Amino acid sequence: MKQIKKITCIGAGYVGGPTMAVIAQKNVNVEVTVVDLNHSRIAAWNDADLNNLPVYEPGLDAVVSEARGRNLFFSTDVDKAIDEADMIFISVNTPTKTYGKGKGQAADLKFIELCARQIAAVAKDDKIVVEKSTLPVRTAEALKSILDNTGNGVNFHILSNPEFLAEGTAVTDLHHPDRVLIGGEDEQAIEALVQVYEAWVPRERILTTNLWSSELSKLVANAFLAQRVSSINAISELCEVTGANVDEVARAIGLDSRIGPKFLKASVGFGGSCFQKDILNLVYIARTYNLQAVADYWEQVILMNDHQKTRFAEKIIQTMYNTVNGKHIAFLGWAFKKDTNDTRESAAIYVADHLTDEEAQVVVYDPKVSAEQIYKDLDYLGTRSPEDNRRLVRVVDNPYEALDGAHAVAVLTEWDEFKDYDWAKIKEGMKRPSFVFDGRKLLNRRELNKLGFAYYAIGE
Ligand code: UDX
Ligand code: ADP
Repeated sequence: MKQIKKITCIGAGYVGGPTMAVIAQKNVNVEVTVVDLNHSRIAAWNDADLNNLPVYEPGLDAVVSEARGRNLFFSTDVDKAIDEADMIFISVNTPTKTYGKGKGQAADLKFIELCARQIAAVAKDDKIVVEKSTLPVRTAEALKSILDNTGNGVNFHILSNPEFLAEGTAVTDLHHPDRVLIGGEDEQAIEALVQVYEAWVPRERILTTNLWSSELSKLVANAFLAQRVSSINAISELCEVTGANVDEVARAIGLDSRIGPKFLKASVGFGGSCFQKDILNLVYIARTYNLQAVADYWEQVILMNDHQKTRFAEKIIQTMYNTVNGKHIAFLGWAFKKDTNDTRESAAIYVADHLTDEEAQVVVYDPKVSAEQIYKDLDYLGTRSPEDNRRLVRVVDNPYEALDGAHAVAVLTEWDEFKDYDWAKIKEGMKRPSFVFDGRKLLNRRELNKLGFAYYAIGE
């Protein structure tokens, strides 16, 4: 079997960047090149100041600093990197379609197809092509067809190797994966990729399956995880009206070893680039095969999530005497979870949109998300003009500035630092009554009540 000497990854995003950094860190004899069309992104990956990496992940700076320039390279020369590689990972984005058939549900495979065509045009010798992006089932088939029909007569072996890392813990997840999944048909190609991972992952954790099982497993894993969050969020609403406490319920059920304690944290709603997109994909596939009951079942996980975001915004409005017009509401957090600068599908975007519909003045502070990104997220919704978004939403880089003079605080992301703020000082500067709406159940109710805040948390 051919030993892999050179790996290329197309797409230097949240998946491609960290994954390739760890592969390079652990395989010193393999040269890993990550390419992207986005010049500024590649420049940021090459920045001497590791604080400027385009992806914020705890521990990523150390891995990049160890491998970069040794056997890890970031480049915009896609053709050269394709030409030289033995193995090519495709790690480009596959957003939900915003047009045409399957709009709002199916994955947009435009970027994947462009990659396949480029690989086919450039490759002069046999390549192993690895799907890393989350894809609908049977994409590998399309990929193979494009490669075989448009290529230079060379052999392509397609593997599916879905990524299970979670943002914010990407480096730990990559270093200690529960499992690595490799789907494929060609034994030798599978073995070549197994060897890359075996450099640090115990063999028994490397699972090999057929292509379709691997592709489907990724969607199903995310659907099951998201379903747990929607399930506990559904219970959070019931807790609020019955006097039960959702954390106590979660703990009580989580101690049942059949249920387990993880992913039972009630919240303002799940976000991130994967959960919604993957479930929508699953729903779309089910509908394509005319499995309406299956599609409806999984779609409900998303509907519950939408309900939770709306419910949180409405709770704020209702508690503040049914009007937030002109009221200053400070947002702590914008990222979809802590320890990442990623904001895709973050609940904060939808809550802000709902409140600004009511003419609230939202002032946002997030430790890692830029003002530019926040306005981009709001403008992308297309709900109102960019001018109105800038009139109604202000972004500041100091939390106390966000909170000073506020009528209410809404916690949208569970960043640890929020817990350590000087809440007594914050109370001094706020309007009265001083409301706290905790969408992450992060702060200490007893302490805040003692300071005189009116505290509301999900599920209590
Ligand atoms: C997820 C999967 O976990 C990962 O395996 C896959 O590769 C990509 O999708 P990610 O989206 O990065 O990872 O983060 P995750 O930790 O799963 O959280 C997703 C969302 O659910 C976040 O908004 C988070 O705040 C929310 N969540 C998670 C809850 O509200 N409650 C929980 O108990 C867990
Ligand atoms: P993910 O979370 O899946 O990693 P990102 O959007 O963070 O998604 O990253 C995907 C990256 O892929 C982007 O930086 C984008 O510029 C890049 N990309 C998309 N299409 C191509 C292509 N044809 N060639 C090279 N890079 C591409």
